[in-house]
Amino acid sequence: MRSFEPGGCAVVVGASGGIGGALVDALGDDPIFDSVFAWARSFEPSIHGKLRRIRVDITNEASIAAAATQIGLPLRLVIVATGALHGGVIGQPEKTYRALDADALLESYRINVVGPALIARHLLPILSPRGRSVFAALSARVGSISDNRAGGWHAYRASKAALNMMLRNLAIETSRRTPETLCVGLHPGTVDTGLSQPFQRNVAAGHLFTPAISAAHLLSVIDGLRREDSGSVLAWDGTTIPP
Ligand SMILES: NC(=O)c1ccc[n+]([C@@H]2O[C@H](COP(=O)([O-])OP(=O)(O)OC[C@H]3O[C@@H](n4cnc5c(N)ncnc54)[C@H](OP(=O)(O)O)[C@@H]3O)[C@@H](O)[C@H]2O)c1
Repeated sequence: MRSFEPGGCAVVVGASGGIGGALVDALGDDPIFDSVFAWARSFEPSIHGKLRRIRVDITNEASIAAAATQIGLPLRLVIVATGALHGGVIGQPEKTYRALDADALLESYRINVVGPALIARHLLPILSPRGRSVFAALSARVGSISDNRAGGWHAYRASKAALNMMLRNLAIETSRRTPETLCVGLHPGTVDTGLSQPFQRNVAAGHLFTPAISAAHLLSVIDGLRREDSGSVLAWDGTTIPP
């Protein structure tokens, strides 16, 4: 990660997830960061070398605020790798509007939009204003409105589209005071995790990334970000996904 000044710290939210865990591993191996904070709701707090595991529930703002106070400065990189497509209150992704359910919609928004927004609220103010800093959230190509030709997955698509708008807003606001702070959405590709597992049948051979490969691509995209990318959603290969 040569675009960052050495000696800072990084935070990965959703570090218990497939991609989040791989991002923590990769950042832990990168000498540019002195410490890596791994947040997840299931973690017991612990310290191993430069890795600090902290229990954070992104649906509980007080827990985000408390975790933010534990971050050593300067904070240079935040990656929000939480997200939900199915399971629990959300159930299965809708194939038709007849399956729309208020509780499932609200839960999708709570996890995919409100959580990342609250993380931004508490971490953007402490991102280092000196040198490059990045706030990135994992979005999805299916959150693109103009690229939507297949339909379906109403709650997931709509919540990721809302996340993309939130990121654009954050980018505009931060650019006014700290132009070196970039806010982006990232599409990780189709990755072999619990989130994609029920839908992998339709993935063409050779198009399913391991979490480690996806994490390497995503960190390379973050490293190559230009100021004009802030507010956009970029895919794993660095291409911009249309809004
Ligand atoms: N995998 C793909 O093919 C793919 C494609 C496009 C976009 N993405 C996006 O990439 C991101 C990471 O997904 P993944 O594939 O790594 O999925 P994953 O393995 O299921 O990880 C999801 C992460 O989100 C956390 N999470 C889920 N529900 C939560 C809740 N209610 N409160 C707090 N944390 C919650 C999980 O925590 P627990 O471990 O505690 O459940 C876990 O850390 C998501 O935003 C997803 O939309 C993935």
